[in-house]
Amino acid sequence: MPVEIIATTAKFIEQKFADEGSGHDWAHIRRVWLMARRLAQAAPEADREVAELGALLHDIADWKFHDGDYEAGPRAARAWLLSQEAPEALISRVETIIREVSFKGLGVPTPVSSLEAALVQDADRLDAIGAIGIARAFAYGGHKGRPLHDPAVAPVAHDSFASYQKNTAPTLNHFYEKLLHLKDRLNTDVARQVAEGRQAFMETYVARFLAEWEGAD
Ligand code: ADP
Ligand code: NI
Repeated sequence: MPVEIIATTAKFIEQKFADEGSGHDWAHIRRVWLMARRLAQAAPEADREVAELGALLHDIADWKFHDGDYEAGPRAARAWLLSQEAPEALISRVETIIREVSFKGLGVPTPVSSLEAALVQDADRLDAIGAIGIARAFAYGGHKGRPLHDPAVAPVAHDSFASYQKNTAPTLNHFYEKLLHLKDRLNTDVARQVAEGRQAFMETYVARFLAEWEGAD
């Protein structure tokens, strides 16, 4: 396996996602990669190569853009890593991260089976909250043609991945159905610390959004 596999993988993913405008772009993946590295610094037992490759490859073929096929991501990551002559043990650890990282609905547990998966899941979740998380949610909603908000459509606590996937609600509902809860679904102390400021900002934002919706200043 080439020693520069992380740099080669970063280049590959950067090129693959260059024109992606849905919130799953290279900039997102780069931020998740940087955050996973930061979280790994506080977890010296973590295998940094596994965590970094998991971060770089976690959205390589998201189910949302592959007809709900959950195995598209692990399959694409495996094909890439095989092309780089990565050993089987590394490939299967990265595949597991990709399977475990995603949020699947408020009522659906998403346990992780390795420290590296915990770090990548936290890094991905941190990128869904705060200023960037807000921007990504509305970018995703715009991509899907959703209204910003509709007070007549109540948020739902999805208790299955299937019902979460079928959701077509206005974007503000996504804050109640996922984003405002992510801080309570983090695995590491460092991620929980980072989440505090992002959470406060998001709560202020939603409060202002609702006030302005009704014509307040
Ligand atoms: P995860 O990596 O946890 O699976 P997703 O891939 O579901 O996260 O989401 C990627 C980005 O798209 C996130 O910032 C998320 O908040 C946003 N997103 C996903 N579903 C919706 C939705 N229904 N409305 C608005 N934004 C969404
Ligand atoms: Ni992601």
